[in-house]
Amino acid sequence: MLEGKKILIVIGGGIAAFKSLDLIRRLRERGATVTPVLTSGAEHFVTPLSVAALSASKVYRDLFDLTDEAEMGHIELSRASDLILVAPATANIMARMAGGLADDLATTLLLATDTPVMIVPAMNVRMWTHPATQRNLTVLRGDGIGVVGPVDGAMACGEFGPGRMAEVADIVAAVDAHFSGGPLSGRHVLVTSGPTHEPIDPVRYIANRSSGAQGTAIAGALRDLGARVTFVTGPADVAPPPGVTVVAVQTARQMQAAVQAALPADAAVMAAAVADWRVENASDSKMKKDGSGAAPALTFAENPDILREVSDGPNRPGLVVGFAAETDDVVAHATAKRLRKGCDWIVANDVSPATGIMGGSENAVTLITADGAEEWPRLTKQETARRLAERIAKGLT
Ligand code: C5P
Repeated sequence: MLEGKKILIVIGGGIAAFKSLDLIRRLRERGATVTPVLTSGAEHFVTPLSVAALSASKVYRDLFDLTDEAEMGHIELSRASDLILVAPATANIMARMAGGLADDLATTLLLATDTPVMIVPAMNVRMWTHPATQRNLTVLRGDGIGVVGPVDGAMACGEFGPGRMAEVADIVAAVDAHFSGGPLSGRHVLVTSGPTHEPIDPVRYIANRSSGAQGTAIAGALRDLGARVTFVTGPADVAPPPGVTVVAVQTARQMQAAVQAALPADAAVMAAAVADWRVENASDSKMKKDGSGAAPALTFAENPDILREVSDGPNRPGLVVGFAAETDDVVAHATAKRLRKGCDWIVANDVSPATGIMGGSENAVTLITADGAEEWPRLTKQETARRLAERIAKGLT
């Protein structure tokens, strides 16, 4: 709950601004007091009147409004809150924040504040993926600003891809996690999950079996302990948890890029079942049987080992956790893997079909650390995730 929390919401000028109206309602339902600031762009998308009605508050709009300055200066306005939420955060406002500009009320109070800031980006996919926006994102993250979303999906402009504003429930969950004050609050944890799909042609692919259930549960458990979680997921069977930043990918190389873009992080939990090989001669058009009985000759190339790269890389998180799904000699293989991959811990499990673990709701893992192997009882994947998240919280202190 957000009882007694004072949230200043800066509404940027984007089509997603309409979602901020619902966001204000949901935050207030949870007990928060919401003070809105509208940029001039936002007023093209939502009216000050509807924002005032939903927030039950005065709407702050203009830096040089003398009445407002007399009542409450912009510095006070920003400092009197427990959290500043910029939603939607447009490419423009992100750029101005990253550059330290103060050319309207919103950016002035963002520059003047000592309150935690969380942004909820929303913009066209090309604007989001543009190197300038990605550069600004890195700067903002480095400044300690929390980032919720964006997510993949259809856009108002007709395009599809990352850039869509996170759903209101996810933003509320991120705000809740921020205030929960858990042992991981203020920490950034990267989680990979799900399989990768390596195309053979536009309709076929090769993949590892993975439901994504354990990785999803781990991301949720880390969020519950207050971590800011970046969740890089391949095409999984289960939906990603709310309240984490989801980066959806298909292939191992896309996962590699997303993981590198998400660093730095305090910890990384690499639970994805990454395909070891991709089809080097994948076809751009659907392969056809030619009636001769000849099978296509696929050639394979090795995919990057994302875990090893993270473990050996210059941005290595303080704690790197890998996974090992084995069908025999689990502890021996996993112990060797820990050293080979350069990670700190390996969560090993026996995925032989008889165990029912693959795709099931339970897991029985052995945690391999520098101190040896620790066998955990058979637990639900949620409970396994909870224990692992607690171990990570201890490991980071
Ligand atoms: O080598 P193996 O696939 O068994 O290693 C499993 C661990 O390595 C998991 O943590 C998995 O997420 C990670 N991995 C990776 N990139 C790969 C292969 C595996 O990050 N290409």
